[in-house]
Order: sequence, then C-alpha cells, then structure tokens
Amino acid sequence: MKPPILVEPQLLEFDKIGRLELGYLTSLENSKLPFDVKRVYWTYYTPDAVTRGHHAHKELKQLIFAVAGTITMTLESIKGVITTYTLSSPNIGLFIPKLHWRTIKMSHNAVLLCLASEEYDEADYIRDYDEFDIFKKGKT
Ligand code: TYD
Repeated sequence: MKPPILVEPQLLEFDKIGRLELGYLTSLENSKLPFDVKRVYWTYYTPDAVTRGHHAHKELKQLIFAVAGTITMTLESIKGVITTYTLSSPNIGLFIPKLHWRTIKMSHNAVLLCLASEEYDEADYIRDYDEFDIFKKGKT
C-alpha cells in the first residue's frame, strides 16, 4: 500500500538488511514509495568547492540518498522556510516536494542517488531565483 502523500520535505528511513560483519543492503519498492518512480539518476565526483542545484521544480518530486559520502541539502519552500538537511546514511532518504529551491554541497566521494517522479523535462525547472520569488509571492 502506498504511504500517505507527503507535502513537506521529510527524511525517510528505510530498512537496512545485514550486519556489521557482512555489510548492508537497502531495497526500495515502487509500491511503498510516496510517488511512482519514473527516473533514476546519480551525481558523483563533485568537487568539494562546488555548490550544485540552484533551482526548483514546478511538479517534480524527488527522494534523494547519499549512497556514499555526505550531502548537505538546503531547501527553501515557497513559504520562505529554509531548512538544511545532512545526508550521510545510505538508508535515509530526503523527500523533496515540488517548488523547493535547493542548493547542494557534496563531499568529493559522495554519490547522490535521486529517485524522481517524472522523466527529465527542462520545462519543469525554475532556474531563475527571481522566477521562484514570483511563485513565493503568489503562494504566500
Ligand atoms: P541539474 O538538474 O541542473 O543538476 P544539479 O542540480 O545537480 O546541479 O542537471 C545538470 C545537467 O544535466 C543539466 O544540463 C540537465 C541535465 N540532466 C539530464 O539531462 N537528465 C537528468 O535526468 C538530469 C537530472 C539532468
């Protein structure tokens, strides 16, 4: 059964199968995720000095994991709420609803795995903060 629809950013913890001596495995099934997954991508080898992101999405929902390394994700909602999340456990994902401006810092060894609710569509991006500001003004 699908979990309830999420509207706020949220850390979701998934089961970890295994033990210290063996190592661990985490498995995700579409039916148990907060949205249907239509795309998977991963980002890696990001230099420490680089900040990625700098955009929001009109409709896209995402579930993001640091499957390796550490990721610091700062989200701003259209209500102007800014929250920073640190991801460093491969079994803990950050659910990001639509309309959240994000900046992303990654350790050089980090691998960011993203499960996304839609296929890639550049038209879904808000890449101009001034445009995001218009969404903020319209929705608050
Ligand atoms: P972008 O989403 O801006 O990356 P980040 O927020 O991590 O900095 O994407 C970087 C580039 O890759 C951009 O030109 C769009 C392209 N891209 C795809 O072609 N397909 C995809 O699924 C994604 C996520 C990005």
